[in-house]
Amino acid sequence: ESMTTQEKKLTEKRVVITAGPTVEAIDPVRYISNHSSGKMAFALAKAAKKAGAEVEIVSGPVNLADPAGVTVNHVTSAAQMFEQVKLAVKNCDIFIGCAAVADYTPVKVSCQKIKKNDEQMTLELKRNPDILAWVAEQEDRPFVVGFAAESQSLKEFATKKLHKKKLDMICANDISCEGLGFNSDDNQLLLLDKKGNEELLDVASKEVLACKIINQIVARI
Ligand code: CTP
Ligand code: CA
Repeated sequence: ESMTTQEKKLTEKRVVITAGPTVEAIDPVRYISNHSSGKMAFALAKAAKKAGAEVEIVSGPVNLADPAGVTVNHVTSAAQMFEQVKLAVKNCDIFIGCAAVADYTPVKVSCQKIKKNDEQMTLELKRNPDILAWVAEQEDRPFVVGFAAESQSLKEFATKKLHKKKLDMICANDISCEGLGFNSDDNQLLLLDKKGNEELLDVASKEVLACKIINQIVARI
């Protein structure tokens, strides 16, 4: 498919995309986070914008320039991302959860730098809210797309996530493939939808994959 086929197919549509990692503070100098460059999310934002949509990205810390004509709402923690998504998804037509949200956050953030005393130390963590699942649970919900990063049983685990989170579509990412994903410019994805359709998007740049994902969304809304 050419990159231009979907041009202007998303006019009057509002798209919200989560991007990048979240950063969970432990103390003033330390944090817990995930590997995520934000490249896939920003490419999706550009593709959606090109298709005529009004686009907002809610992004954790990334080293990427804000795309022209796209609102980028910069956040740090999962809790902050959740708050901003709650505001952003009002009147939203398509939600894409592309962020690598930290699953857990420290129970308490130490105001002072934690000193090393013992040979072992334990950090108490609590579950973060599932932002994607929350959006999908809303009564007047947008078309909801998730990502699944898996190191094994790609299709099985991604299918479970698709149904458990009540998603319309999921983009499954095999992170065991060397040289792909995370900070790489290229990726390979398996798209699964709630009706059981599947589409393999073979290795390509994140820009090309983003256009293909947007095309797949357009075909389903
Ligand atoms: N996600 C989210 N909020 C979270 C965790 C995940 O919005 N607190 C979203 C991600 O943006 C992604 C999807 O859920 O679109 C799947 O994330 P992933 O980490 O692959 O799955 P989890 O449900 O967190 O399960 P696990 O990490 O145990 O595989
Ligand atoms: Ca996770």
